[in-house]
Amino acid sequence: MIVLGIETSCDETAAAVVRRDDEGAGRIVSNVVLSQDAHAIYGGVVPELAARAHVERLDDIIASALKEAGVTLADVDAIAATAGPGLIGGVLVGLTTAKAMAMATGKPLIAVNHLEAHALTARLTDGIAFPYLLLLVSGGHTQIVRVDGVGSYRRLGTTIDDALGEAFDKTAKLLDLGYPGGPAVERAAAKGDPTRFHLPRPMLGRPSPDFSFSGLKTAVRLEAEKHAPLSPQDVCDLCAAFQASICAVIADRVTRAFDLFRSETPDVVPTLVVAGGVAANKAIAATLKGVADKTGARLIVPPPVLCTDNGAMVAWVGAEKLALGQTDGFDVAARARWPL
Ligand code: KG4
Ligand code: ZN
Repeated sequence: MIVLGIETSCDETAAAVVRRDDEGAGRIVSNVVLSQDAHAIYGGVVPELAARAHVERLDDIIASALKEAGVTLADVDAIAATAGPGLIGGVLVGLTTAKAMAMATGKPLIAVNHLEAHALTARLTDGIAFPYLLLLVSGGHTQIVRVDGVGSYRRLGTTIDDALGEAFDKTAKLLDLGYPGGPAVERAAAKGDPTRFHLPRPMLGRPSPDFSFSGLKTAVRLEAEKHAPLSPQDVCDLCAAFQASICAVIADRVTRAFDLFRSETPDVVPTLVVAGGVAANKAIAATLKGVADKTGARLIVPPPVLCTDNGAMVAWVGAEKLALGQTDGFDVAARARWPL
């Protein structure tokens, strides 16, 4: 089957065509992602600007995805779009476009949960079997989810305040490093001494694998104020300490999630799938690799274009659900909040 997927829930305008064969193996035939650049000067995504940019560009992006795939709408078996969670104006643009296309062509519509799309990506890229664990670390989400099947998800832990990417972005803003902050903090951290400042390691040792980052961000601010004006080396040292704290927290929380997974399914080797923009951080990736090696777990990090927001993951959920006969009516609503 061939599915068109549309993603507009944040600041990526994206469309893709994915094929799924009868054995359940997936293949990306096209994957077009436009990262909106209008937000950088504001230091964060501006919802109204994002929605307008989706309106302006989505038709083109869909046409490109179909063209690159060498198919027309007539060849497509279903149209899938992110219906939430996300910035509601953008979600409405993508979902309404998908509804209009489905209505005009008579093809089935599939309304996709964006988190489910991140959760199932590894089945598209690596064909992995259920159950497994997902660590989603992006600008908007920080969660550890147990994935037992299509539609069967259990959140084991989440952040009680800021998302991890948000913590990187806010820390970067505080230290005048620009937006998006994650890559800038990582670059500065590489030149810093992680032992000079002592920052908190929130949630270490808690029984449920939850996260908290706002205290860490505040601790960076207090150190920055204490040592103002900061020299470039101060900034690098603060970033290194910040990143080291985050790596220590992630190692502890993921180890805890592996323990929980093993206690429920002792016969299954735990597999951890990583998704979200923060997965691009090399120190965090190395930390996860270390934890996986130490605990005998398997780690899957899809390529960066499939870790961050894209249409292929949405099309893939469409294909998995279509194979199960799960489609949606035109009354399906866009949702700003939609927990897994
Ligand atoms: O998944 P994503 O592209 O977009 C959404 O949030 O939906 O994630 C973007 C987030 C931003 O907060 C950005 O600062 C962070 O991922 N990020 C990083 C790195 N690259 C991107 N954080 C830490 N280190 C990085 N190298
Ligand atoms: Zn996302």
